[in-house]
Amino acid sequence: MKLLKRLTEADAPSGRENAVRDIIKEEAERLGYEVCTDALGSVIAHRSGSGKKLMFDAHIDEIGIIASYTDDNGFIRFGAVGGLYTKELQHRRVRFENGTIGVIGSEEKAFDEKPELSKLYIDIGAKNKAAAEKLVKTGDSAVFDGEFYQKGDTVISKALDDRVGCYILLKAMEELEESENDLYFVFSTQEEVGLRGARTAAFNIMPDYAIAVDVTDTGDTPSCPVMDVRLGEGAAIKIMDRSVMCDSHVVSSLRKLAAANKIPYQSEIMTDGGTDAGAIALTGGGVRAGGISVPTRYIHSPAEMASKKDINACIELVKAACAYSWQ
Ligand code: CO
Ligand code: ZN
Repeated sequence: MKLLKRLTEADAPSGRENAVRDIIKEEAERLGYEVCTDALGSVIAHRSGSGKKLMFDAHIDEIGIIASYTDDNGFIRFGAVGGLYTKELQHRRVRFENGTIGVIGSEEKAFDEKPELSKLYIDIGAKNKAAAEKLVKTGDSAVFDGEFYQKGDTVISKALDDRVGCYILLKAMEELEESENDLYFVFSTQEEVGLRGARTAAFNIMPDYAIAVDVTDTGDTPSCPVMDVRLGEGAAIKIMDRSVMCDSHVVSSLRKLAAANKIPYQSEIMTDGGTDAGAIALTGGGVRAGGISVPTRYIHSPAEMASKKDINACIELVKAACAYSWQ
């Protein structure tokens, strides 16, 4: 879990992913993989083989905000980097790359059910524009502050979306046994702003099969929307989300592998949000793609919650998929 903590503590809003990229490169090189970085900043780790070309993907970026304007009194207006729930933003802390912490406030009376982003601002405690601009300039981005915590099977942190996916791939890469497959592990950028890094990486690789590893919603909290995924009940094998209809051969193969290896699994249909699987599937002439997801509560908040049991199930399922003789 030390590695997961380190991955979540690094800040990487979309397009500014260096901090996480450095950790991933260091780990992948330590594990003896051939590592390169593409033009969009995605890290691609390769272990060659004579079998099918498989691509596993997890995104390294996280949601955040970007400073867009500072007023005369030193209050900073901002844009969204990825999908923000504006009604949950008030009084949250954000952290800029230089360590400056700000608090999100809202214009008086503007904080109704769903405040518009334009009515919110960031307060870094500066007394005027000049003082504010010494710390934060237009174009600087920030992420939510949310400390890593673990106890028993429970993990809570910011950016589990999708550092937990990066962690799963790195663990699988480390524990992998013999495999004849030609294996590519992609740590992609800019997922949260439109599944971008995975698309160009997939174009470079053009795999026979691709599997995106990311978080998914659950249907197990009070009065939440119905969904057949629960925390602690295993790896979620994706069937569909708003970006993708998973390849049926990938879905059935993952189910078969889970059953054969006694890995607990569930079936995921996520009605809100997409994943890199969607962008990869539509690359070039098309790629047969699927997904393995970590059931996660409170996605896109500073306190995302997952279970170690599910994380371990996902690691086992990725390893099984790496070693499988894909037809
Ligand atoms: Co996300
Ligand atoms: Zn994600």
